[in-house]
Amino acid sequence: MKSICLIGFMGSGKTTLGKELAKKLDAVFLDTDEEIIKWRQMGIPEIFQVEGEKRFREYETEVLKGLPQKDTVIATGGGIIEAKMNRDILNNDFFTVYLKTSFKEIKQRLAFDKNRPLWNQEMEKKQQLYENRQSMYEECADQIIQTDDYSTERMVQMIMKCIVHY
Ligand code: S3P
Repeated sequence: MKSICLIGFMGSGKTTLGKELAKKLDAVFLDTDEEIIKWRQMGIPEIFQVEGEKRFREYETEVLKGLPQKDTVIATGGGIIEAKMNRDILNNDFFTVYLKTSFKEIKQRLAFDKNRPLWNQEMEKKQQLYENRQSMYEECADQIIQTDDYSTERMVQMIMKCIVHY
C-alpha cells in the first residue's frame, strides 16, 4: 500500500484520524511534528522561538523526504504544504488526504490551545493563513473530506473505500 499522508489546517484532526486509520489498516502511524521533536530534541514552540519558522519548515522537508512510502499512515503539520518541494513530494510519493475543516469549527476546537505558535496570534491573521492555504491543500489532495460533517469512524471508512479503488 502507498503510504497515506493526512494534510489539513491545525485542528483538523489529522492525528486522531491517522491513529484510527493506521489501526484499521494494520499500518504504522507517524506524525511529522513528533519526528521533528524526536530528531531535534526540542518542542515545536521552542523550535519556533529559538530557531524560527523558516528553520522549522526546513526540518519538515527533511522529515518528509525520509518518510516510508509504503504501509504507513502519516499525520503532517498544518503548514507542510507551504513549501513547493513538499507539495511535489506529497503529489508524487503519497496518497494524500486533505481533511477540510471550516474555520468556525477550528476556532472552537482550538479555543484553549496554547501549544501551536501560529495559533497564538490575532484572529484575523489566523483566518488569513487558513484562507491562503486552501488552494495549496487542494493542489496536493487525492481525496478531500469535509470533516465538520463526519465522525472519525465514518472518515476512516471513507478513506479505506477510496484507497481500495486507487
Ligand atoms: C503548524 C501546525 C502544527 C505544527 C506547527 C506549525 C502550521 O501542526 O506543525 O505548530 O504551520 O500550521 P498541527 O497541524 O498538527 O497542529
